[in-house]
Amino acid sequence: MKEAIGFLVFVWFLLCGFCVGRFVVEKNSLKVTSPNSLKNVYECAIGDFGVPQYGGTLVGTVFYPKANRKACRSFGDFGISFKSMPGGLPTVILADRGDCYFKLKVWNAQSGGAAAILVADDKIEPLITMDDTPEDLPDYLQNITIPEALISKSLGDSIKKALSDGEIVSINLDWREALPHPDERVEYEFWTNSNDECGPNCDNQIDFVKNFKGAAQVLERKGYTRFTPHYITWYCPEAFVLSKQCRAECINHGRYCAPDPEQDFSKGYDGRDVVVQNLRQACFYKVANESGRPWLWWDYVTAFAIRCPMKEKKYNAECANQVIESLGVDLKKIEKCIGDPTADEENAVLKAEQDLQIGKGTRGDVTILPTLIINNRQYRGKLAKGAVLKAICAGFQGTTKPAVCLTEEVETNESLESDGGCCQDKSF
Ligand SMILES: *[C@@H]1O[C@H](CO)[C@@H](O)[C@H](O)[C@H]1NC(C)=O
Ligand SMILES: *[C@@H]1O[C@H](CO)[C@@H](O)[C@H](O)[C@H]1NC(C)=O
Ligand SMILES: *[C@@H]1O[C@H](CO)[C@@H](O)[C@H](O)[C@H]1NC(C)=O
Repeated sequence: MKEAIGFLVFVWFLLCGFCVGRFVVEKNSLKVTSPNSLKNVYECAIGDFGVPQYGGTLVGTVFYPKANRKACRSFGDFGISFKSMPGGLPTVILADRGDCYFKLKVWNAQSGGAAAILVADDKIEPLITMDDTPEDLPDYLQNITIPEALISKSLGDSIKKALSDGEIVSINLDWREALPHPDERVEYEFWTNSNDECGPNCDNQIDFVKNFKGAAQVLERKGYTRFTPHYITWYCPEAFVLSKQCRAECINHGRYCAPDPEQDFSKGYDGRDVVVQNLRQACFYKVANESGRPWLWWDYVTAFAIRCPMKEKKYNAECANQVIESLGVDLKKIEKCIGDPTADEENAVLKAEQDLQIGKGTRGDVTILPTLIINNRQYRGKLAKGAVLKAICAGFQGTTKPAVCLTEEVETNESLESDGGCCQDKSF
Protein backbone atom coordinates (compact mmCIF):
# COMPACT_ATOMS: atom_id res chain seq x y z
CA MET A 1 0.00 0.00 0.00
CA LYS A 2 3.00 2.28 0.50
CA GLU A 3 3.26 2.96 -3.20
CA ALA A 4 -0.37 3.91 -3.48
CA ILE A 5 -0.02 6.29 -0.59
CA GLY A 6 3.10 7.74 -2.15
CA PHE A 7 1.16 8.30 -5.32
CA LEU A 8 -1.68 9.87 -3.39
CA VAL A 9 0.63 12.28 -1.68
CA PHE A 10 1.95 13.16 -5.09
CA VAL A 11 -1.53 13.68 -6.45
CA TRP A 12 -2.52 15.74 -3.45
CA PHE A 13 0.49 17.87 -4.01
CA LEU A 14 -0.71 18.55 -7.52
CA LEU A 15 -4.33 19.01 -6.53
CA CYS A 16 -3.25 21.41 -3.90
CA GLY A 17 -1.98 23.96 -6.34
CA PHE A 18 -3.54 26.74 -4.36
CA CYS A 19 -3.19 25.15 -0.93
CA VAL A 20 0.26 26.55 -0.44
CA GLY A 21 -1.57 29.82 -0.08
CA ARG A 22 -1.39 32.77 2.16
CA PHE A 23 -1.49 31.82 5.81
CA VAL A 24 -2.10 34.77 8.08
CA VAL A 25 -0.35 34.80 11.45
CA GLU A 26 -2.92 36.21 13.88
CA LYS A 27 -1.45 38.48 16.52
CA ASN A 28 -2.33 40.07 19.78
CA SER A 29 -0.50 42.75 21.64
CA LEU A 30 1.87 42.42 24.52
CA LYS A 31 2.52 45.53 26.52
CA VAL A 32 5.54 45.60 28.79
CA THR A 33 4.68 47.96 31.67
CA SER A 34 7.96 47.62 33.57
CA PRO A 35 10.93 48.04 33.59
CA ASN A 36 11.02 51.47 31.96
CA SER A 37 13.75 50.43 29.55
CA LEU A 38 11.40 47.89 27.96
CA LYS A 39 8.12 49.81 28.16
CA ASN A 40 6.46 49.43 24.82
CA VAL A 41 3.78 47.53 22.95
CA TYR A 42 5.02 44.47 21.08
CA GLU A 43 3.35 41.98 18.81
CA CYS A 44 3.14 38.30 19.61
CA ALA A 45 1.59 35.47 17.63
CA ILE A 46 -1.38 33.55 19.04
CA GLY A 47 -0.79 29.80 18.96
CA ASP A 48 -3.30 27.45 17.42
CA PHE A 49 -4.33 25.36 20.41
CA GLY A 50 -4.37 27.25 23.72
CA VAL A 51 -7.14 29.43 25.06
CA PRO A 52 -6.53 33.04 24.05
CA GLN A 53 -8.60 35.38 26.20
CA TYR A 54 -10.34 37.05 23.26
CA GLY A 55 -11.89 40.30 24.43
CA GLY A 56 -9.89 40.31 27.64
CA THR A 57 -6.54 41.15 29.11
CA LEU A 58 -4.14 39.36 31.40
CA VAL A 59 -1.69 41.15 33.66
CA GLY A 60 1.27 39.21 34.98
CA THR A 61 4.94 39.11 35.84
CA VAL A 62 7.38 37.22 33.71
CA PHE A 63 9.43 34.38 35.14
CA TYR A 64 12.29 32.74 33.28
CA PRO A 65 13.08 29.52 35.13
CA LYS A 66 16.67 28.68 36.08
CA ALA A 67 16.27 25.12 34.86
CA ASN A 68 14.05 23.43 32.28
CA ARG A 69 14.20 26.57 30.18
CA LYS A 70 12.61 24.93 27.15
CA ALA A 71 9.78 23.66 29.37
CA CYS A 72 10.05 20.21 27.86
CA ARG A 73 9.84 18.50 31.24
CA SER A 74 7.53 18.87 34.18
CA PHE A 75 8.56 21.78 36.38
CA GLY A 76 7.64 19.67 39.39
CA ASP A 77 10.73 17.52 38.63
CA PHE A 78 12.82 20.59 39.34
CA GLY A 79 10.88 21.68 42.40
CA ILE A 80 9.63 24.75 40.55
CA SER A 81 6.07 26.04 40.95
CA PHE A 82 4.55 29.24 39.60
CA LYS A 83 1.39 29.38 41.61
CA SER A 84 0.94 32.99 42.67
CA MET A 85 0.19 34.04 46.22
CA PRO A 86 -3.33 35.32 46.89
CA GLY A 87 -3.32 38.91 45.66
CA GLY A 88 -0.08 38.42 43.77
CA LEU A 89 0.12 38.91 40.07
CA PRO A 90 -0.10 35.71 38.04
CA THR A 91 3.06 34.29 36.58
CA VAL A 92 3.74 34.25 32.89
CA ILE A 93 6.47 31.79 32.04
CA LEU A 94 9.07 32.63 29.46
CA ALA A 95 10.36 29.48 27.75
CA ASP A 96 12.76 28.92 24.90
CA ARG A 97 11.70 27.44 21.60
CA GLY A 98 13.02 24.03 20.61
CA ASP A 99 13.54 20.39 21.62
CA CYS A 100 9.86 19.45 22.10
CA TYR A 101 6.38 20.24 20.85
CA PHE A 102 4.85 23.62 21.68
CA LYS A 103 1.88 21.91 23.29
CA LEU A 104 4.12 20.11 25.74
CA LYS A 105 5.72 23.40 26.81
CA VAL A 106 2.29 24.94 27.36
CA TRP A 107 1.10 21.92 29.30
CA ASN A 108 4.17 21.94 31.56
CA ALA A 109 3.74 25.65 32.22
CA GLN A 110 0.06 25.18 33.04
CA SER A 111 0.73 22.18 35.29
CA GLY A 112 3.33 24.23 37.13
CA GLY A 113 0.70 26.88 37.84
CA ALA A 114 1.53 29.51 35.21
CA ALA A 115 -1.28 31.72 33.91
CA ALA A 116 0.21 31.97 30.43
CA ILE A 117 3.38 31.13 28.55
CA LEU A 118 5.51 33.15 26.19
CA VAL A 119 7.75 31.14 23.92
CA ALA A 120 10.80 33.05 22.74
CA ASP A 121 11.79 32.30 19.18
CA ASP A 122 15.32 30.96 18.77
CA LYS A 123 16.03 32.69 15.50
CA ILE A 124 15.43 36.06 13.95
CA GLU A 125 12.40 35.66 11.68
CA PRO A 126 8.86 36.95 11.28
CA LEU A 127 6.45 35.63 13.94
CA ILE A 128 4.97 32.22 13.22
CA THR A 129 1.81 30.51 14.46
CA MET A 130 2.64 27.77 16.93
CA ASP A 131 0.90 24.61 15.85
CA ASP A 132 1.70 20.97 16.44
CA THR A 133 0.09 18.58 14.01
CA PRO A 134 1.25 15.06 14.92
CA GLU A 135 -1.57 12.97 16.28
CA ASP A 136 0.50 10.75 18.52
CA LEU A 137 0.63 13.41 21.22
CA PRO A 138 -0.84 12.30 24.54
CA ASP A 139 -4.53 13.03 25.10
CA TYR A 140 -4.09 15.22 28.14
CA LEU A 141 -2.59 17.90 25.91
CA GLN A 142 -6.21 18.55 24.92
CA ASN A 143 -6.69 19.84 28.46
CA ILE A 144 -4.73 23.02 27.89
CA THR A 145 -6.63 25.98 29.33
CA ILE A 146 -4.03 28.76 29.36
CA PRO A 147 -3.08 31.09 26.52
CA GLU A 148 0.25 30.92 24.79
CA ALA A 149 2.05 33.32 22.51
CA LEU A 150 5.24 33.35 20.51
CA ILE A 151 7.50 36.38 20.87
CA SER A 152 10.45 37.41 18.76
CA LYS A 153 13.98 36.42 19.66
CA SER A 154 14.92 40.04 20.27
CA LEU A 155 12.07 40.68 22.71
CA GLY A 156 12.90 37.38 24.45
CA ASP A 157 16.54 38.40 24.78
CA SER A 158 15.62 41.82 26.19
CA ILE A 159 13.30 40.32 28.79
CA LYS A 160 15.95 37.78 29.85
CA LYS A 161 18.52 40.57 30.17
CA ALA A 162 16.19 42.65 32.34
CA LEU A 163 15.43 39.65 34.56
CA SER A 164 19.09 38.80 34.98
CA ASP A 165 19.68 42.43 36.01
CA GLY A 166 17.21 41.83 38.82
CA GLU A 167 14.33 43.81 37.31
CA ILE A 168 10.69 42.84 37.65
CA VAL A 169 9.18 42.45 34.20
CA SER A 170 5.44 43.13 34.19
CA ILE A 171 3.38 42.60 31.11
CA ASN A 172 -0.14 43.01 29.90
CA LEU A 173 -1.36 40.58 27.29
CA ASP A 174 -4.23 42.14 25.44
CA TRP A 175 -6.60 40.31 23.12
CA ARG A 176 -9.22 43.04 22.90
CA GLU A 177 -8.18 44.08 19.41
CA ALA A 178 -7.30 40.59 18.21
CA LEU A 179 -10.67 40.37 16.47
CA PRO A 180 -12.55 43.15 14.72
CA HIS A 181 -15.80 44.12 16.45
CA PRO A 182 -17.44 46.52 14.01
CA ASP A 183 -21.15 46.10 14.83
CA GLU A 184 -23.82 44.29 16.79
CA ARG A 185 -23.82 41.16 14.66
CA VAL A 186 -20.98 38.64 14.42
CA GLU A 187 -20.45 36.77 11.19
CA TYR A 188 -18.63 33.49 11.54
CA GLU A 189 -17.76 30.52 9.37
CA PHE A 190 -16.74 27.02 10.22
CA TRP A 191 -14.79 25.09 7.59
CA THR A 192 -15.42 21.48 8.37
CA ASN A 193 -15.90 18.03 7.01
CA SER A 194 -18.34 15.14 7.33
CA ASN A 195 -15.55 12.51 7.48
CA ASP A 196 -15.70 10.82 10.88
CA GLU A 197 -12.74 8.46 10.50
CA CYS A 198 -9.70 10.71 10.53
CA GLY A 199 -8.78 10.25 14.17
CA PRO A 200 -8.52 12.98 16.80
CA ASN A 201 -8.95 15.78 14.26
CA CYS A 202 -12.36 14.50 13.14
CA ASP A 203 -13.40 13.59 16.70
CA ASN A 204 -12.52 17.09 17.82
CA GLN A 205 -14.64 18.68 15.07
CA ILE A 206 -17.71 16.65 15.85
CA ASP A 207 -17.31 17.10 19.62
CA PHE A 208 -17.11 20.82 19.04
CA VAL A 209 -20.27 20.84 16.93
CA LYS A 210 -22.13 18.83 19.59
CA ASN A 211 -20.97 21.02 22.46
CA PHE A 212 -21.38 24.33 20.69
CA LYS A 213 -24.76 23.58 19.12
CA GLY A 214 -26.82 25.02 21.99
CA ALA A 215 -25.01 28.35 22.12
CA ALA A 216 -24.81 28.58 18.31
CA GLN A 217 -28.55 28.07 17.95
CA VAL A 218 -29.46 30.65 20.59
CA LEU A 219 -27.16 33.23 18.98
CA GLU A 220 -28.49 32.52 15.50
CA ARG A 221 -32.19 32.46 16.36
CA LYS A 222 -31.94 35.77 18.15
CA GLY A 223 -30.13 37.32 15.20
CA TYR A 224 -26.88 38.01 17.06
CA THR A 225 -24.82 35.98 14.65
CA ARG A 226 -24.82 34.90 11.06
CA PHE A 227 -23.17 31.54 10.80
CA THR A 228 -22.25 29.68 7.62
CA PRO A 229 -20.71 26.22 7.36
CA HIS A 230 -18.15 25.60 4.64
CA TYR A 231 -16.44 22.64 3.04
CA ILE A 232 -13.03 22.46 1.42
CA THR A 233 -12.61 20.53 -1.82
CA TRP A 234 -9.79 20.23 -4.31
CA TYR A 235 -9.82 19.60 -8.02
CA CYS A 236 -8.09 16.86 -9.92
CA PRO A 237 -5.54 18.04 -12.48
CA GLU A 238 -6.82 17.59 -16.04
CA ALA A 239 -4.34 14.83 -16.90
CA PHE A 240 -5.45 12.68 -13.95
CA VAL A 241 -9.22 12.96 -14.29
CA LEU A 242 -9.61 9.43 -15.58
CA SER A 243 -7.12 7.87 -13.17
CA LYS A 244 -8.33 5.39 -10.58
CA GLN A 245 -7.34 7.78 -7.83
CA CYS A 246 -9.28 10.75 -9.08
CA ARG A 247 -12.29 8.65 -9.86
CA ALA A 248 -12.27 7.36 -6.26
CA GLU A 249 -11.70 10.74 -4.70
CA CYS A 250 -13.65 13.14 -6.89
CA ILE A 251 -17.14 13.85 -8.15
CA ASN A 252 -18.36 15.78 -11.18
CA HIS A 253 -15.53 14.55 -13.36
CA GLY A 254 -12.59 15.54 -11.19
CA ARG A 255 -13.94 18.93 -10.20
CA TYR A 256 -14.42 18.34 -6.46
CA CYS A 257 -12.22 15.94 -4.50
CA ALA A 258 -11.43 14.97 -0.94
CA PRO A 259 -8.75 12.63 0.43
CA ASP A 260 -9.70 9.02 1.07
CA PRO A 261 -10.82 8.59 4.71
CA GLU A 262 -8.53 5.57 5.28
CA GLN A 263 -5.91 6.77 2.79
CA ASP A 264 -6.55 3.52 1.02
CA PHE A 265 -8.90 3.67 -1.97
CA SER A 266 -9.15 -0.11 -2.21
CA LYS A 267 -11.32 -0.39 0.90
CA GLY A 268 -13.97 1.36 2.96
CA TYR A 269 -15.31 4.73 1.91
CA ASP A 270 -13.65 6.81 -0.75
CA GLY A 271 -12.91 10.49 -0.96
CA ARG A 272 -15.89 10.93 -3.29
CA ASP A 273 -18.25 9.59 -0.59
CA VAL A 274 -16.95 12.31 1.71
CA VAL A 275 -17.42 14.98 -0.96
CA VAL A 276 -21.02 13.90 -1.54
CA GLN A 277 -21.82 13.98 2.19
CA ASN A 278 -20.13 17.34 2.52
CA LEU A 279 -22.21 18.59 -0.39
CA ARG A 280 -25.36 17.23 1.26
CA GLN A 281 -24.51 19.19 4.43
CA ALA A 282 -23.84 22.35 2.45
CA CYS A 283 -27.13 21.90 0.56
CA PHE A 284 -28.93 21.19 3.81
CA TYR A 285 -27.69 24.52 5.13
CA LYS A 286 -28.72 26.31 1.94
CA VAL A 287 -32.25 24.90 1.95
CA ALA A 288 -32.73 25.36 5.72
CA ASN A 289 -31.46 28.93 5.41
CA GLU A 290 -33.86 29.66 2.57
CA SER A 291 -36.72 28.49 4.77
CA GLY A 292 -35.54 30.86 7.52
CA ARG A 293 -34.11 28.21 9.85
CA PRO A 294 -30.34 28.13 9.21
CA TRP A 295 -29.65 26.84 12.74
CA LEU A 296 -31.06 23.42 11.81
CA TRP A 297 -27.63 22.71 10.28
CA TRP A 298 -26.32 22.08 13.82
CA ASP A 299 -29.08 19.53 14.43
CA TYR A 300 -28.48 17.81 11.13
CA VAL A 301 -24.71 17.54 11.49
CA THR A 302 -24.83 16.19 15.04
CA ALA A 303 -27.62 13.73 14.24
CA PHE A 304 -25.83 12.56 11.09
CA ALA A 305 -22.61 11.95 13.03
CA ILE A 306 -24.45 9.93 15.65
CA ARG A 307 -26.81 7.99 13.40
CA CYS A 308 -24.76 7.51 10.22
CA PRO A 309 -21.14 6.75 11.20
CA MET A 310 -18.66 5.18 8.79
CA LYS A 311 -17.84 2.54 11.39
CA GLU A 312 -21.38 1.15 11.18
CA LYS A 313 -21.39 1.44 7.39
CA LYS A 314 -24.25 3.92 7.54
CA TYR A 315 -22.39 6.82 6.01
CA ASN A 316 -24.73 6.93 3.01
CA ALA A 317 -27.57 8.78 1.31
CA GLU A 318 -30.29 6.59 2.78
CA CYS A 319 -29.29 7.25 6.37
CA ALA A 320 -28.64 10.94 5.69
CA ASN A 321 -32.06 11.35 4.10
CA GLN A 322 -33.79 9.81 7.10
CA VAL A 323 -32.15 12.42 9.29
CA ILE A 324 -33.16 15.18 6.89
CA GLU A 325 -36.78 14.04 6.87
CA SER A 326 -36.87 13.79 10.65
CA LEU A 327 -35.91 17.47 10.76
CA GLY A 328 -38.68 18.45 8.38
CA VAL A 329 -36.45 19.98 5.72
CA ASP A 330 -37.41 19.65 2.05
CA LEU A 331 -35.51 16.60 0.78
CA LYS A 332 -36.40 17.26 -2.87
CA LYS A 333 -34.77 20.66 -2.76
CA ILE A 334 -31.64 19.16 -1.21
CA GLU A 335 -31.44 16.48 -3.88
CA LYS A 336 -31.84 19.07 -6.57
CA CYS A 337 -29.02 21.07 -5.02
CA ILE A 338 -26.74 18.00 -4.98
CA GLY A 339 -27.50 17.27 -8.63
CA ASP A 340 -25.76 14.39 -10.37
CA PRO A 341 -22.27 13.76 -8.94
CA THR A 342 -21.36 11.58 -11.91
CA ALA A 343 -22.13 14.28 -14.47
CA ASP A 344 -19.40 16.20 -16.23
CA GLU A 345 -20.69 19.56 -15.04
CA GLU A 346 -20.22 22.13 -12.32
CA ASN A 347 -22.12 22.11 -9.06
CA ALA A 348 -23.09 25.65 -8.09
CA VAL A 349 -22.65 25.11 -4.35
CA LEU A 350 -19.23 23.44 -4.52
CA LYS A 351 -18.00 25.90 -7.12
CA ALA A 352 -18.86 28.75 -4.75
CA GLU A 353 -17.11 26.94 -1.88
CA GLN A 354 -13.91 26.57 -3.91
CA ASP A 355 -13.94 30.26 -4.73
CA LEU A 356 -14.34 31.11 -1.04
CA GLN A 357 -11.29 29.05 -0.09
CA ILE A 358 -9.11 31.78 -1.50
CA GLY A 359 -8.42 34.46 1.10
CA LYS A 360 -9.44 38.07 0.66
CA GLY A 361 -8.50 41.20 2.59
CA THR A 362 -7.48 40.42 6.16
CA ARG A 363 -8.39 36.76 5.81
CA GLY A 364 -5.84 34.20 4.65
CA ASP A 365 -6.57 31.21 2.40
CA VAL A 366 -8.40 28.37 4.05
CA THR A 367 -6.09 25.36 3.84
CA ILE A 368 -6.48 23.72 7.22
CA LEU A 369 -9.39 21.67 8.47
CA PRO A 370 -11.05 22.72 10.66
CA THR A 371 -10.84 26.50 10.34
CA LEU A 372 -13.03 28.95 12.16
CA ILE A 373 -13.35 32.48 10.84
CA ILE A 374 -14.88 35.20 12.96
CA ASN A 375 -15.63 38.62 11.50
CA ASN A 376 -13.44 37.68 8.57
CA ARG A 377 -10.38 36.83 10.69
CA GLN A 378 -9.05 33.36 11.31
CA TYR A 379 -9.60 32.22 14.86
CA ARG A 380 -6.53 30.89 16.65
CA GLY A 381 -6.82 28.72 19.69
CA LYS A 382 -8.40 25.49 20.60
CA LEU A 383 -11.66 24.33 19.12
CA ALA A 384 -13.70 24.10 22.29
CA LYS A 385 -16.96 25.68 23.37
CA GLY A 386 -15.70 28.11 26.01
CA ALA A 387 -12.76 29.36 23.97
CA VAL A 388 -14.81 29.85 20.79
CA LEU A 389 -17.71 31.51 22.57
CA LYS A 390 -15.26 33.93 24.16
CA ALA A 391 -13.92 34.80 20.72
CA ILE A 392 -17.37 35.27 19.18
CA CYS A 393 -18.42 37.42 22.11
CA ALA A 394 -15.34 39.58 21.58
CA GLY A 395 -16.67 40.27 18.08
CA PHE A 396 -19.62 42.40 19.21
CA GLN A 397 -19.26 46.14 19.31
CA GLY A 398 -19.09 47.78 22.74
CA THR A 399 -22.13 47.10 24.88
CA THR A 400 -24.17 45.09 22.40
CA LYS A 401 -23.24 41.67 23.80
CA PRO A 402 -26.04 39.11 24.06
CA ALA A 403 -26.84 37.51 27.42
CA VAL A 404 -25.06 34.28 26.57
CA CYS A 405 -21.84 36.32 26.51
CA LEU A 406 -22.35 37.76 29.96
CA THR A 407 -22.25 34.50 31.83
CA GLU A 408 -19.33 33.79 34.11
CA GLU A 409 -17.77 31.37 31.69
CA VAL A 410 -17.23 34.06 29.12
CA GLU A 411 -16.85 37.33 31.02
CA THR A 412 -13.07 37.33 31.10
CA ASN A 413 -12.20 40.93 31.80
CA GLU A 414 -13.70 41.23 35.24
CA SER A 415 -12.39 38.00 36.63
CA LEU A 416 -9.00 38.41 35.05
CA GLU A 417 -8.64 41.86 36.56
CA SER A 418 -9.68 40.77 40.02
CA ASP A 419 -7.66 37.63 40.54
CA GLY A 420 -5.27 37.95 37.67
CA GLY A 421 -6.82 35.00 35.93
CA CYS A 422 -4.75 32.52 37.85
CA CYS A 423 -7.36 30.99 40.04
CA GLN A 424 -10.58 30.81 38.12
CA ASP A 425 -9.75 27.39 36.80
CA LYS A 426 -10.42 24.96 39.60
CA SER A 427 -7.68 22.65 38.40
CA PHE A 428 -4.99 24.93 39.73
C1 LIG B 1 -7.99 15.74 30.87
O1 LIG B 1 -9.37 15.94 30.85
C2 LIG B 1 -10.13 14.74 30.88
C3 LIG B 1 -11.59 15.08 30.68
O2 LIG B 1 -11.94 16.29 31.27
C4 LIG B 1 -9.86 14.03 32.23
O3 LIG B 1 -10.58 12.83 32.28
C5 LIG B 1 -8.37 13.74 32.33
O4 LIG B 1 -8.08 13.19 33.59
C6 LIG B 1 -7.55 15.02 32.15
N1 LIG B 1 -6.13 14.66 32.12
C7 LIG B 1 -5.22 15.31 32.81
C8 LIG B 1 -3.82 14.79 32.72
O5 LIG B 1 -5.48 16.30 33.47
C1 LIG C 1 -29.16 32.91 4.23
O1 LIG C 1 -30.36 33.61 4.23
C2 LIG C 1 -30.21 35.00 4.35
C3 LIG C 1 -31.61 35.60 4.52
O2 LIG C 1 -32.48 35.13 3.55
C4 LIG C 1 -29.49 35.55 3.15
O3 LIG C 1 -29.32 36.95 3.24
C5 LIG C 1 -28.12 34.88 3.10
O4 LIG C 1 -27.39 35.30 1.95
C6 LIG C 1 -28.25 33.39 3.08
N1 LIG C 1 -26.95 32.82 3.20
C7 LIG C 1 -26.47 31.88 2.39
C8 LIG C 1 -25.05 31.47 2.60
O5 LIG C 1 -27.14 31.37 1.53
C1 LIG D 1 -12.22 45.76 31.28
O1 LIG D 1 -12.29 46.35 32.55
C2 LIG D 1 -11.86 47.70 32.60
C3 LIG D 1 -11.86 48.15 34.05
O2 LIG D 1 -12.79 47.47 34.84
C4 LIG D 1 -12.77 48.54 31.72
O3 LIG D 1 -12.36 49.89 31.73
C5 LIG D 1 -12.70 48.00 30.29
O4 LIG D 1 -13.57 48.71 29.46
C6 LIG D 1 -13.04 46.52 30.25
N1 LIG D 1 -12.81 46.00 28.93
C7 LIG D 1 -13.69 45.24 28.29
C8 LIG D 1 -13.28 44.74 26.94
O5 LIG D 1 -14.77 44.93 28.73
